[in-house]
Amino acid sequence: MPRVLLLLPTTTYRARDFLDAADSLDIEIVIGSDGRQTLEDLMGQRALVLPLGGGAENDVRASVAAIADANEKTPFDAIVGVDDGGIVVAAAASDRLGLPANDVAAVRRTRDKREQRSAFSAAEVPQPEYTALDPDDVRRLLAGERLDQIDHVTFPAVLKPPELSGSQGVIRVDAPGEMRAAAQRIVDIIKGSTEETEECSPGSGALVLEEFVAGPEVAVEAVVRSGNVRVLAVFDKPDPLDGPYFEETIYVTPSRHSDRDLRDLERVVAIGVGALGITEGPVHAEARLGDRGVRLLEVAARSIGGLCARALRFGVGVTLEEVILRHALELPVPVLVPEGAASGVMMLPIPHAGTLREVRGVDEARAVPGVVGLETTIPVGSAVVPLPEGDRYLGFLFGRGDDPAEVEDTLRRAHARLEIEIS
Ligand SMILES: Nc1ncnc2c1ncn2[C@@H]1O[C@H](COP(=O)(O)OP(=O)(O)O)[C@@H](O)[C@H]1O
Ligand SMILES: [Mg+2]
Repeated sequence: MPRVLLLLPTTTYRARDFLDAADSLDIEIVIGSDGRQTLEDLMGQRALVLPLGGGAENDVRASVAAIADANEKTPFDAIVGVDDGGIVVAAAASDRLGLPANDVAAVRRTRDKREQRSAFSAAEVPQPEYTALDPDDVRRLLAGERLDQIDHVTFPAVLKPPELSGSQGVIRVDAPGEMRAAAQRIVDIIKGSTEETEECSPGSGALVLEEFVAGPEVAVEAVVRSGNVRVLAVFDKPDPLDGPYFEETIYVTPSRHSDRDLRDLERVVAIGVGALGITEGPVHAEARLGDRGVRLLEVAARSIGGLCARALRFGVGVTLEEVILRHALELPVPVLVPEGAASGVMMLPIPHAGTLREVRGVDEARAVPGVVGLETTIPVGSAVVPLPEGDRYLGFLFGRGDDPAEVEDTLRRAHARLEIEIS
């Protein structure tokens, strides 16, 4: 039986889905995680406590040493990193054990939006115009100075932290005069997230300023093998993402964009992946279809976040997690034809900040024809925080149907049945 080390950061939503996939493939799993909670929830699994630390240098070194020790006793056939918190250690430990995986520097590059932009720029990947503000620029901006770099970007623009995800700290800025307040807000968000999870590298006080690319946004799920990018699904995001904050809601696949747009998109994603040096494993890319063509927003060396992967099934019920595990073990990956006609997910929007009191209408939402799942992921009694400060999903609603328009409609109708009480 093949043996896989699965690196699960505490913040992951996907432990269960990966374990189910391992079960159906007859794979022995050892879990590596930084959180006792994750390990307790998954009791009965063999486990390693590792300081995944989101990729901080010392933590990576300590984790790699612990993995190498464990491997001495019983070798691993593959190491799979889940979500942003697990992928740097997975690459570094695979390298140490001689297992095929991404180059560590390439994975790190995907975790820093400044480095991504400069790699894309060097390879002439179409992307938003941008300028990187280093910590000193940011200090001057906060002190009220005007920065010359701002002239490199047309407004409206987007100001963002280089190392967060899930749209946390991403703010649309309509004019240079709004830069200072937005920067202050983002710097406070970075501070908060560093204190909470110790995940951000301490030196980060940098920001990225980009031209706001208008136009519909899409997400691409793909797997890469020996540098060849194979697109598994393209999701449309039918709710406009115009800011000032970028809360994602509905994802629906297959895409309704033209074949020509989709071909351009695939081409841009493939050169973007190559520019970053990602050669193995899942990737999740986001792009805008702007007036002047596809603009690549970002590429992550992991699969789609939250529970959104549940919106995908390939062949006869094969999950994305199974595809990822098979890929890691170099097992044949089945013909990846999406199962069924159309599917989608809604990340439940957070209407305002407060304490979650009750979610009513769950049965009614589940009863809407076409709804195949609904899960809330913030317990009643906990704080809910909207973007740009928030870093957690309220829940996920899943739908299937004959075509994408029907799925979108199903998700909207089911969401309308939910009454989310926040005080
Ligand atoms: N340059 C841009 N133009 C238009 N929208 C953008 C731009 N940058 C970010 N956004 C919006 O903000 C969202 C989050 O930004 P992104 O760079 O993907 O950071 P994160 O890692 O938090 O997902 C994007 O999905 C998009 O909707
Ligand atoms: Mg993104």
